[in-house]
Amino acid sequence: MAGLIGRPVQDLDTPALLLDWPAAQRNLRKMADFFREGPARLRPHFKNHKCSELARRQLEAGSAVGITCAKLGEAEVLAAAGIEDILIANQIVGLAKIERLVALARRVPRLRVAVDDLEQSRLLAQAAEAAGVTVGVLIEIDIGMGRCGLPPGQPAVDMAARLTALKGVRFDGLQAYEGHLVAVSDPQERWTRTRQAFEPALQTRRMLADAGPPPGIISGGSTSTYAVTGRIEGIDEIQAGTYVTMDSMYRKLTPEFEVALSVLSTVISRPGPDTSVLDVGLKGLGHEFGPALPKEMLDAPCQAFLAEEHCIVRDGPDWKVGRKVELVPSHACTTCNLYRQLHVCEQGRVVDVWPINASGCLT
Ligand SMILES: Cc1ncc(COP(=O)(O)O)c(C=O)c1O
Repeated sequence: MAGLIGRPVQDLDTPALLLDWPAAQRNLRKMADFFREGPARLRPHFKNHKCSELARRQLEAGSAVGITCAKLGEAEVLAAAGIEDILIANQIVGLAKIERLVALARRVPRLRVAVDDLEQSRLLAQAAEAAGVTVGVLIEIDIGMGRCGLPPGQPAVDMAARLTALKGVRFDGLQAYEGHLVAVSDPQERWTRTRQAFEPALQTRRMLADAGPPPGIISGGSTSTYAVTGRIEGIDEIQAGTYVTMDSMYRKLTPEFEVALSVLSTVISRPGPDTSVLDVGLKGLGHEFGPALPKEMLDAPCQAFLAEEHCIVRDGPDWKVGRKVELVPSHACTTCNLYRQLHVCEQGRVVDVWPINASGCLT
């Protein structure tokens, strides 16, 4: 690994995951500057890159309260890297995981988890109490996505009252994620609908305040809605993830951030004058939002098709076999999960290599 530092990016064997560090740093600064004004703070979502070195830089950039993650295994990696404030924005269900969560709570000064089921919350509370720890819980409410969460309003208020009565867990507020709106292409429509979607969350918080126990925080938001969610009084932290690496889908939604992530690949065949075949495909590129595209041709009318281990580019430049090409994936989060190393690059040279130490963490 040390042997790679200082080497030209073009010398890397492929496929290799690259992070354009000056671009990523500009993204970090832009987001930190935005959140300096408040009222919300940033809680970057680790699921984007799964690299604890990059998570540490997100905290160092400022305006961040801690890190969000999706999986218990990711939280364990973050804890091992010394991150002290972690939100698992997901339900942790079953005794095997609850045991791990309680063990983690011994090591992490501030650990929170999303809940939406009373029985599982009781199991967590019992295990935590027996271990002499307290785990912070956010009740997840469904503000329209139709994934996890209780309905906003009275069901959440009732559950908060029950949680407050338990030892071993501490009711810390609400989680609300507007995942059904993040890809709305027109920004004005996205922001208006996002404001409307959070209204029931804010109303639930007012009901909690009236009902007695401290209402706690609201945590939610994303890269494509931070501009509004970050400025709504009553929303405390924004779980934006993709802003640091970006990808070809988010590039259309939030053009103020730069594409910093790419997969370096090699042209391995030229079966025809208009066709180049590269050495990475479905197994090395997250493709949920379309095929990856050559970085130099993001706005050009070139077409790419993915097979398991190949990317076939039509109507692209007249590349020679052996030429190295950077591909921008359509989905950064599922791409990073496929790699073990992030090659941090500056002006065409590798300046660092960071382990993607939570890649493949599914449990
Ligand atoms: C719970 C939660 N919060 C926030 C996000 C936002 O992430 P991003 O900023 O990458 O869209 C996600 C995305 O999947 C999520 O699941």
